[in-house]
Amino acid sequence: MAKKAKKRATKTSSSRGARSRQPQKTLNDLFVETLKDIYFAENKIIKTLPKMAKAAQSKDLAAAFNKHLRETQGQVKRLDQIFKMLGKPARGKPCEAINGITDEGAEIMKEFKGAPALDAGLLAAAQAVEHYEISRYGTLRTWAEELGMQDAARLLQATLDEEEATDHTLTELATSVINVEAEQEQLEAA
Ligand SMILES: [Fe+2]
Ligand SMILES: [Fe+2]
Repeated sequence: MAKKAKKRATKTSSSRGARSRQPQKTLNDLFVETLKDIYFAENKIIKTLPKMAKAAQSKDLAAAFNKHLRETQGQVKRLDQIFKMLGKPARGKPCEAINGITDEGAEIMKEFKGAPALDAGLLAAAQAVEHYEISRYGTLRTWAEELGMQDAARLLQATLDEEEATDHTLTELATSVINVEAEQEQLEAA
């Protein structure tokens, strides 16, 4: 028992030693890394939204996707501005989370092509994207405030507002889309 504890203690102190030789990463570094993550995500969303709008059966849903595509293009411009404020090149870093969420959306489009439940699936995929973005932008806005970057915080808040409004629109559409779909299924069953 004592031997094990000693071993663990040695390991901890040596890894601490290794860490102290490396430059300490700051909140500012984390902020830049997370900006790169969301920059990649937004650009991925710009490629995905037109496919979702094309696939949507409901006109309202397609219109909501197209509206958010235009907003997303503006959101990338806001990120460009923040990178500029930081004196860093605007660059994305592959984000496996958004790749996974959009892959799931692509799978639904393929498997539910022409099916009554397609729009419900598209809505679910889109809301997963919005929730990811809301989480990221909430964090980034808070960090910008903590780092004293009020202008960046304002830009991030403007995007966060758009993501939340989109989520709200999708929630409302979900109710009408699912009702239409249920009616259709009932008619087919009758
Ligand atoms: Fe976005
Ligand atoms: Fe979004």
